[in-house]
Amino acid sequence: MSDNKQILILPGDGIGPEVVPAAVALMHAAALLEDIRIDTVEGLVGGIAIDQTGSPLPAETLAAAKAADAVLLGAVGGTKWEDRPMNARPEKGLLGLRSGLELFANLRPALLFGPLAKASSLKSELVADLDILIVRELTGGIYFGEPRGVEIRDNERVGFNTYIYSEHEIERIARVAFELAQKRSGQLCSVDKANVLEVTQLWRDVVNETAVDYPDVELRHMYVDNAAMQLVRAPKQFDVVVTGNMFGDILSDVAAMLTGSLGMLPSASLAASGKGLYEPVHGSAPDIAGQDKANPLATILSVAMMFRYSLNMPLAADRIEAAVNTVLAAGIRTADIMPQDRAGQTLVGTIEMGERVLACLKQAAGESR
Ligand code: IPM
Ligand code: MG
Repeated sequence: MSDNKQILILPGDGIGPEVVPAAVALMHAAALLEDIRIDTVEGLVGGIAIDQTGSPLPAETLAAAKAADAVLLGAVGGTKWEDRPMNARPEKGLLGLRSGLELFANLRPALLFGPLAKASSLKSELVADLDILIVRELTGGIYFGEPRGVEIRDNERVGFNTYIYSEHEIERIARVAFELAQKRSGQLCSVDKANVLEVTQLWRDVVNETAVDYPDVELRHMYVDNAAMQLVRAPKQFDVVVTGNMFGDILSDVAAMLTGSLGMLPSASLAASGKGLYEPVHGSAPDIAGQDKANPLATILSVAMMFRYSLNMPLAADRIEAAVNTVLAAGIRTADIMPQDRAGQTLVGTIEMGERVLACLKQAAGESR
């Protein structure tokens, strides 16, 4: 086997196969600038895996993900598979990867690129320079809790899930968040529903106990309903936010919209080993799939996170992020980030957006030589 980095590419469904190639091109180009070669293998996950193999997460895909240094994923799901039973849906492929690789720490930065201040649904002064990091627990909580199901009780259907966290699960995600807060502004907000749910009272207690090891971090707690409100009222009060699986799912979509579009947000899902799965926060967007309309920037920025967190190549990450910023500053926009006042902006499709970022990356590197 070569010493090259091995990356598993899982384009998945919907717009996944459109946004992933742009990001893969950036990945190779940024690595080559440092004389590093990356080997890629492609695999199946989600709906396309169901269609071709009968399973949303074929055994070969999980094995390839375990063997790789990191995984890049597009999106899973679509209307075509919506009527399937819960455990045979495309989403199970993604959830199976998260649990199979023990990717318990999901980092979802919501960063507003300056040129996009007008694309936010909030007034630009509320979101200018916004830079929030949501740390979402990803392998526990109500997403995975047992028992779960729908069954007949007393002649009617009853649906149930289990919201469960054990101490070690809370402590390890809290430590990730405290350490990230130390590297950033030193502020951490833990989000729970401790006024109603015992499991999140334990969450709050364990986060408080863990805080003792991080005296330099200023910790506060917030109920999830208040956090949702504060995110749209005064988002800049947040820096690092740590929360459980379901609250993190919801709050990260809210935070994403603050930055202008779900099409801008990358994510990293990390295991204790440093292995990571990188994917855009957005879904498969079946309504625009196959039309060259999707914004590839979230996937491109996910590759930047891959360089930073799994491949230890921070320069490549910086270069990709700078190229994205340059393209945005030049007024290049996919439809989702096009402001109503289109003056000075150029509408482009998925392919052209990727090509523009690639050109900027190469140009900037050429100039700095
Ligand atoms: C996300 C998505 C997933 C989730 C779905 C596709 C299973 O919404 O990554 O935020 O709920 O975690
Ligand atoms: Mg989500």
